[in-house]
Amino acid sequence: MKIAFVGKGGSGKTTLSSLFIRHLAAVGAPVVAVDADINQHLGAALGLDEKEAAELPAMGERLRLIKDYLRGSNPRIASAETMIKTTPPGEGSRLLRVQEDNPVYGACAHRVELDDGAVRLMVTGPFTDADLGVACYHSKTGAVELCLNHLVDSRDEYVVVDMTAGSDSFASGMFTRFDITFLVAEPTRKGVSVYRQYKEYARDFGIILKVVGNKVQGQDDIDFLRAEVGDDLLVTIGHSDWVRSMEKGRPPRFEFLEDANRRSLRVLQVAADATYELRDWERYSRQMVHFHLKNATSWGNERTGVDLAAQIDPGFVLNEGLAAVV
Ligand SMILES: Nc1ncnc2c1ncn2[C@@H]1O[C@H](COP(=O)(O)OP(=O)(O)OP(=O)(O)O)[C@@H](O)[C@H]1O
Ligand SMILES: [Mg+2]
Repeated sequence: MKIAFVGKGGSGKTTLSSLFIRHLAAVGAPVVAVDADINQHLGAALGLDEKEAAELPAMGERLRLIKDYLRGSNPRIASAETMIKTTPPGEGSRLLRVQEDNPVYGACAHRVELDDGAVRLMVTGPFTDADLGVACYHSKTGAVELCLNHLVDSRDEYVVVDMTAGSDSFASGMFTRFDITFLVAEPTRKGVSVYRQYKEYARDFGIILKVVGNKVQGQDDIDFLRAEVGDDLLVTIGHSDWVRSMEKGRPPRFEFLEDANRRSLRVLQVAADATYELRDWERYSRQMVHFHLKNATSWGNERTGVDLAAQIDPGFVLNEGLAAVV
């Protein structure tokens, strides 16, 4: 299952991503955790110290390797230079699985030991001013999008992405790459305004969007969120002393997370798992093509000097059956 955490800056995306990742690890599920947010804090939230977090290999700096591996022997993709972040897989492309060793994980993934198991962590790398708002070509999250577009995940395997709700993900199509999107919102007008914007984009693409209320203090907060987002409100999470201890660099064992918050994490997993039956690889592949064509005409063709529409393999549909083929 591919799961995104999005929301306003400071709403708690990283905190809730990290708690959900810890929860999944605790139930023994295989997890790839991805930090695709502008503020790269997921490593720290998973317990890495400053030095370890700073030394994480950045996907954004290994784009060449990622592209060369993924394009494999696909005859429609002549070179890494002409492979853009939306270039879809086709016959000859290499796919990624959650549970395997491959050169992409080898170069970009860091094994993080948690209390009850280990997860793979991948990070886009720190964003600079040059990354923001401009130059799709250089987009750091492009590396994540490429990987998601080449990933075949099954039931009971999880890819959890800590993402910003920024315009970059809307332009590229990244926001359509998930089985479910958890929008983290504090019970404030600003918190839910991001929800409205996301919902607007999501509507046309069949995105499953659920709101996770965070830093919720009482019934009044719950009533406010319910009134603003209606049935999209999945669950709420209160202030957590466990999280506060972690922020001080003294995380208790995960089993000591407050009961109510543990229950909320289980609700997130149940909601994510329930989307499995709704999966539609055809639509997923079609959307990949849609955004590729959009990026090709808006900047890609000009930038690469080739007709990027020719990269599309018309008969190719990503699906779990392909995962069996080595
Ligand atoms: N449920 C909670 N209980 C206690 N503290 C929390 C909770 N949720 C978030 N926080 C705290 O609020 C702050 C912001 O949270 P976090 O960094 O997860 O937000 P974010 O949405 O990832 O922010 P950014 O946009 O900067 O990446 C952090 O100091 C975090 O520890
Ligand atoms: Mg964050």
